[in-house]
Amino acid sequence: MINRKPLEASLTAVKSAFPKAKPKMGMILGSGLSEVAESFEQLGVLSYAKIPGLGKAGVAGHAGKLVWGKSAGIETFIFQGRRHVYEGVGWEAVATPLFLLKSLGAKAVFLTNAAGGTNPKWTPGNLMIIEDHINMMGITPLLGAHDTFWGPRFPDQSFIYDRQLRAALARAGRAAKVALRKGVYFAGTGPTYETPAEVRAWRALGADAVGMSTVPEAMLANAAGLRVVGLSCITNMAAGILDQPLTHEEVFETSQQAMANMKKLILQFWQELAKEKI
Ligand code: HPA
Repeated sequence: MINRKPLEASLTAVKSAFPKAKPKMGMILGSGLSEVAESFEQLGVLSYAKIPGLGKAGVAGHAGKLVWGKSAGIETFIFQGRRHVYEGVGWEAVATPLFLLKSLGAKAVFLTNAAGGTNPKWTPGNLMIIEDHINMMGITPLLGAHDTFWGPRFPDQSFIYDRQLRAALARAGRAAKVALRKGVYFAGTGPTYETPAEVRAWRALGADAVGMSTVPEAMLANAAGLRVVGLSCITNMAAGILDQPLTHEEVFETSQQAMANMKKLILQFWQELAKEKI
């Protein structure tokens, strides 16, 4: 159950900070990816501390700022840092970006994350267009009393990751000469990384990448009628694929190495979005 009060308070705070904002796109930047916002023309910046539903982003590598920016003429709200289920602060912090975007008339949201690769042919630094997801969190943000803001009681999930936007992202990859993988993102709650046995099981179930985020946001955005497009930065091979332990430092370092490609890709993707007249 998502409590509407902090979400409404967030909307009031953002409207008073950026009274002229009319974002068409949203983007949520995952672990270590905050720097992507630097490629956008900046129209304003608001700390999460000033947005009641978001509060302070609690994880290293997450800047905790809302950047009101523009690229290819498209007004965009960039959430520099995300809130996660594993932080244990409730769904409101996870839902707030989607609530703000939908309430302010945005059409689509671009979800990014750092993920472990379960496909042994892939290497850290690869970028993956999310084609679909598997929710292994054992929980969804839509449990509880029905709130029509988030669409119907039983939201369809046949086409969460918008086909046209995925095609536009693939085109952007070709134009920017950034190689892209495609695959299925598999989400657990975290904060533990997976065990090698879990990684083998999840690979067998269809996972190409594993992570601790994105799925609740994609579910909420889809239910609320926002178009969704998603990209995973494969920051490490998932547990057990290599004979070495995983660390957040490794995740962060690889995301930094992939940053130049991420920025090139995203700038080109915004050009494609402009052609699509999103
Ligand atoms: N597992 C889960 N989440 C992650 C990983 C991983 O291997 N890498 C980055 N986020």
